[in-house]
Amino acid sequence: MARRRQIYEGKAKILYEGPEPGTLIQYFKDDATAFNAQKKGTINGKGVLNNRISEHIFTLLGHIGIPTHFIRRLNMREQLIRQVEIVPIEVVVRNVVAGSLSKRLGIEEGQQLPRTIVEYYYKDDALGDPMVTDEHILAFGWAQQEELHDMADMAIRVNDFMCGLFAGIGIRLVDFKLEFGRIYDNEFSRIILADEISPDGCRLWDMASGEKLDKDRFRRDLGGEVEAYQEVARRLGLLPEGGETAVLDLETHRKKRGK
Ligand SMILES: Nc1ncnc2c1ncn2[C@@H]1O[C@H](COP(=O)(O)OP(=O)(O)OP(=O)(O)O)[C@@H](O)[C@H]1O
Ligand SMILES: [Mg+2]
Repeated sequence: MARRRQIYEGKAKILYEGPEPGTLIQYFKDDATAFNAQKKGTINGKGVLNNRISEHIFTLLGHIGIPTHFIRRLNMREQLIRQVEIVPIEVVVRNVVAGSLSKRLGIEEGQQLPRTIVEYYYKDDALGDPMVTDEHILAFGWAQQEELHDMADMAIRVNDFMCGLFAGIGIRLVDFKLEFGRIYDNEFSRIILADEISPDGCRLWDMASGEKLDKDRFRRDLGGEVEAYQEVARRLGLLPEGGETAVLDLETHRKKRGK
């Protein structure tokens, strides 16, 4: 088969040209980075798990009327998506104090927030993705007022849905990051949910033990990253019970054998 044209290689995923105009193929790598890529590593099988977890959540969000870029999963590591013009803003939703919020304001991790907080970060690796307000977003034209409203509105709906989804499987949804993009119908554009939703961009704590089931295991050198991602997938019903190796695709096996 002819080699597909690569559009972009990011830290966790590769985008390839899709089969039809306006589509892309999103390939999930095992690479993990933290602290603006100052820390690098691999989590064997992560790409396979994130592909499945993101597929599952985007499909469910589609069912409650959230427009998303997801079309269908193609194989273990790839999904077909609609190409969007990414809004250069990361939308972070927080239910519990953790991570940078805890650090910046000196508030202990784990405190339940009295109300959900939505934060915006400008997507710029060179600047370390600085936090910005809606004023900056509008002043610099990164998004229009109506787009910002749509993004905030969808972020809250996604949060409400995901809080329930995870609570049902004994997981506390502490916080998560979303990315949105524009699609164009003639001269009109609208905002849809893009990128991925996976333990890479969510904080997920086991309700009973408080154990972290997300990328903080990698960030904080806690170990057991694969097991944590697998546990999330298993509880979501995406793994056959007890089938730990089922998610390891051939590529992972080859890497493990050192070839
Ligand atoms: N539907 C889409 N159409 C176009 N671009 C997309 C779409 N969904 C996600 N993206 C972009 O594709 C890239 C995915 O790769 P990855 O997540 O590895 O990037 P990253 O290393 O986090 O870098 P970045 O800072 O660019 O987000 C991101 O830049 C993301 O914004
Ligand atoms: Mg990314």
